[in-house]
Amino acid sequence: MSNPTFAAIDVGTTKVCTVVGEVSPEGDLRILGVGIGPSAGLTKGMVDNIQAATEAIASSVERAERASGTRILSAHVGIAGPHVSSSNSRGIVAIPDPRRPISEADVQRALDSARIVNVPTNREVIHVVPRYYVVDGQDSVVDPVGMYGSRLDVETHVVTASASAMQNLVQCVEGAGVRVDSLILEQLAAAEAVIQEEELRHGVALVNIGGGTTDVAVFVNGAITHTAVLPVGGVHMTRDLVVALRVPQPSAEQAKRRFGHAIPSMVDADEVVEIDSFGSDGRREVERRAIAQVIQARAEELFELVHAEIRRGAQAETLAAGVVLTGGAALLPGIDVLAEGVLQLPARIGRPRHLAGLSDILHDPAYATSVGLLRWALKEREVVFRSTALPVGSLGGLMKKVGHLMRLVLPQ
Ligand SMILES: Nc1ncnc2c1ncn2[C@@H]1O[C@H](COP(=O)(O)OP(=O)(O)OP(=O)(O)O)[C@@H](O)[C@H]1O
Ligand SMILES: [Mg+2]
Repeated sequence: MSNPTFAAIDVGTTKVCTVVGEVSPEGDLRILGVGIGPSAGLTKGMVDNIQAATEAIASSVERAERASGTRILSAHVGIAGPHVSSSNSRGIVAIPDPRRPISEADVQRALDSARIVNVPTNREVIHVVPRYYVVDGQDSVVDPVGMYGSRLDVETHVVTASASAMQNLVQCVEGAGVRVDSLILEQLAAAEAVIQEEELRHGVALVNIGGGTTDVAVFVNGAITHTAVLPVGGVHMTRDLVVALRVPQPSAEQAKRRFGHAIPSMVDADEVVEIDSFGSDGRREVERRAIAQVIQARAEELFELVHAEIRRGAQAETLAAGVVLTGGAALLPGIDVLAEGVLQLPARIGRPRHLAGLSDILHDPAYATSVGLLRWALKEREVVFRSTALPVGSLGGLMKKVGHLMRLVLPQ
């Protein structure tokens, strides 16, 4: 039997990235193919032109199909945008017979009861992420299955999103001929790709700086405490450069990528670069430090907003591992140094690792979400698998189950 394969689509504001992966019998992820193309029809992470977005998704999917030699029938899809919001909620259930151990079904009932939060009719729950369990008052239980008790509480992180924004995204993906397996919050996916166990345990925040959005996720003691999506990203840095330098957008984007820096004092004061500009000459000389100053102003403001979100999720002393930066704008030289200054926390750039197969291009902070979508989906499948109560060690059975659930990519 060939290994089960599955797909993920990261529909970003600036790019669409489709990844096809397979799971080895050992549970390792191998990348079979990647399809990357420019995005269209999205602003601040949300669809605002169905047709343009559908075409951009279809083109990325087609490239991934060609690269992987598979046909993508369904995929896990990332979601972000300022319409996403989150809160923590507790679910409580009684264990009917305390003489038998707590089962997966009991855990599921507890999660279902946490899900019953006050959600307005125009919003839907996308995740109920368990943070920790409490069994008869015993706090911080990681996995209650098999324990004895008469009452089970679960602390969860509940993420909700605008029903219409979700529907618009699903419409575009389905319009591109791909069924949606699940919608996954982008920063949860990105965290899955780049954050290490050790960092999770000691407290860490993930900051994914994309084109139109910056997504934040805060983890304390191994559990998620807060998520937020800010409507600012790399696109805004480029837009600032257009205005400040009076140059066309493509020229500003190129200048940012080639000469950009987040710390002006780290750029040679005399260095001058030539870029395309508006006006009769068509070319202009600009001080590289001036480019950095524009970028720094926007990035500093962005990190102030991020700081406020991080504080909502954790006290600084509970985040020993600091912050991990992902997203395309994390490629900006000096961005980690700037983040450390504003947030007063250690910062590093997160790149997806431990990937086998055709994955060279994915070792880039911009692809943390795409890779993470596959990883998150895989992890969720394991949860589904456990609930089927197959005997431990029944790997054949596991692969069969996973194979069934990941049925949706066919060889061409
Ligand atoms: N080398 C670089 N230096 C600076 N910025 C860069 C560099 N490479 C990419 N970027 C910026 O990263 C941004 C795109 O990041 P990313 O691909 O993570 O966004 P996205 O997923 O399309 O958007 P979003 O997640 O916000 O919907 C763009 O604004 C781009 O200008
Ligand atoms: Mg993104």
